[in-house]
Amino acid sequence: MYTVNWGELTPEKFLEEYWQKKPLLIKAGFENFEDPLSADELAGLAMEEELESRIISNNQNTWNVSHGPFEDFSTFGENNWTLLVQAVNNWSEATGQLLKPFQFIPNWRIDDVMVSFSTPGGGVGPHLDQYDVFIIQGEGKRHWKVGLPDASLEQLLPHEDLKQVSAFKPVIDAITEPGDILYIPPNHPHDGSAIDNSLNYSVGFQAPNSQELISALADVFIDRNIGEQRVDDKDRQKTASPETLTKKDISKLQNFLISEINDDNLMSDMLASFLTRNHHALEILMPVNPFTEGSVVEYLKDPEIFVRPVLGIKVLINEQNGDLYINGDRVALTDETKELGILLAKNQPLTAEILKSSLDCLINVQLLTSVLNMGYWYID
Ligand code: SIN
Ligand code: CO
Repeated sequence: MYTVNWGELTPEKFLEEYWQKKPLLIKAGFENFEDPLSADELAGLAMEEELESRIISNNQNTWNVSHGPFEDFSTFGENNWTLLVQAVNNWSEATGQLLKPFQFIPNWRIDDVMVSFSTPGGGVGPHLDQYDVFIIQGEGKRHWKVGLPDASLEQLLPHEDLKQVSAFKPVIDAITEPGDILYIPPNHPHDGSAIDNSLNYSVGFQAPNSQELISALADVFIDRNIGEQRVDDKDRQKTASPETLTKKDISKLQNFLISEINDDNLMSDMLASFLTRNHHALEILMPVNPFTEGSVVEYLKDPEIFVRPVLGIKVLINEQNGDLYINGDRVALTDETKELGILLAKNQPLTAEILKSSLDCLINVQLLTSVLNMGYWYID
């Protein structure tokens, strides 16, 4: 259980003063911080096919990038390299716990927890990210510098897989120690160089851009065969310049499109579905033999049983239509299933005790059975 020691700040003040505005270092943000995983466990995850991992090394300013899965780390030596593993929260429950203290920000903003292990001198060099990130210092120490957005920074490509920026003037220049939390808003240059063997946890938040949203909307239109109705042109007046696409016509077509986007039901459905899709691999646990309502009730007679969500699964309740969205799929909720739907969306392991009241009602059992059969929850 991780709790942020905000000191003078509160989450409200943090959001007002820093979130997306200014970088912040919270010294000992987690008191007596205990790493949720070890460097060896991280190395083990980087050997797996399903996880996205990279090793970035530098030797007198010559940068190299190798992509996992890795078999052997000994070739990299003792210094000047860092191993980065994406979405470790999809594979390590303890690492996923690092998301909890930041739940004053809604779950739809979460991207992943990326974990890095760096040897002395290791780091990815000065760079920009598009996402908000809380970088937590685990074991070891690292020298972090963070600057402010600066259009004059040069974009550098020291390796085809590594984007960096030129040197920047830091507004934070500090050595992070276990439990320190460094918040970096998007597009703020930063650079962390390890002092000794160092673990860092980057709790990353996504904010979709219009390209992604428009493309997701187009997919919904195509998949569902909607939007085939053509623009209404009944009020056409005679033109004296047939070669011109007039401003009036442009505005008519533009408004036609805006009216589609103004459909709250369609947009909220598209958004909830898009925002629950994971960008990283998940371990979906499809049951070999599908559950039946009867078998689920039977399992839950055992008070020791847990119904657990798959690690990293994204779940949201869409306030517009009241439905539950899991990993891009929509599951309709009714007045009777709403309470269970919210419990599921909390993304916590559920005990038979917690589920007891739901199990009296068949449609709740059906809901539980269907999420188990979709492989999004499992019985443990
Ligand atoms: C890290 O090296 O742990 C974080 C990399 C980054 O700054 O994005
Ligand atoms: Co970064």
